[in-house]
Amino acid sequence: MSPEIRAFFDEATNTVTYLVWCPDSRHAVVIDPVLDYDHASGKVSTHSVDRVLAAAEDEGLTIDWALETHVHADHLSGAPLIKARTGAGIAIGEHVKEVQKIFRPVFMADDLKGDGADFDRLLKDGETITIGNDMDIKVMHVPGHTPADVTYVIGDNAFVGDTMFMPDYGTARADFPGGDARTLYRSIRKILELPPETTLYMCHDYKAPGRDEYAWTTTVAEQRANNLHVHDGISEDEFVEMREARDATLKAPALIMPSIQTNMRAGRLPPAETNGVRYMKVPIELPHTAGEDELAR
Ligand SMILES: [Fe+2]
Repeated sequence: MSPEIRAFFDEATNTVTYLVWCPDSRHAVVIDPVLDYDHASGKVSTHSVDRVLAAAEDEGLTIDWALETHVHADHLSGAPLIKARTGAGIAIGEHVKEVQKIFRPVFMADDLKGDGADFDRLLKDGETITIGNDMDIKVMHVPGHTPADVTYVIGDNAFVGDTMFMPDYGTARADFPGGDARTLYRSIRKILELPPETTLYMCHDYKAPGRDEYAWTTTVAEQRANNLHVHDGISEDEFVEMREARDATLKAPALIMPSIQTNMRAGRLPPAETNGVRYMKVPIELPHTAGEDELAR
């Protein structure tokens, strides 16, 4: 069964959300939904999820799952809103437990158990989710960018999350806590073992030098021939050297702090303080040139 696929691009975070459905039964999943969040003002809006749900309603779809490819560090997840409005469950790779264990102490997130129970379903490598009558979604564990990344394979289509980007842009960074360039290379090679005609759906696009339009679909064959960082012939060691050197030059994503503390909770915003207001936490690192006694008395 070939799925129907519609993409929604969020220019504020360069993220692509996918609505994927079985044309027969009209059961659907949403992959990587976005909650609109302005960190400067703390304002949240629901525009991105609204447009996905409006399209689902137009098509007469029943959304069964909001699927996360990983705990994103560049946008807040819209999955809880999809769940609240449709009754869909929220699923992610089972290694999210490792991500929770890494970041729970960073954000003093004592409400988290670190067992992944905040999600409705934890997916194992090789597991299949069946949507409607016969739309099978196969889960591939593809760690490296984070420990918990998964790719969702549906027929001749693969939703690769943050592993590769378009061929002219390359690959995802591997320097977040729990990330690893060598592991990322092996995961990418695993995806590139899929049949050459497989269509690959990116999680992000940032354009690229010489390209003025956003783009988010390519194929295994195109990636193997042309991906800037991992085309056929680039060895694991060459990739690791390139990736680590490049990662050392990258700044933290603008929304990394609010994104991680929200998304590791399956997209739940941090708990309210006693005044009823929710706050995002930013752990502060003091400089070597000034200590607690000077700056934090
Ligand atoms: Fe990511």
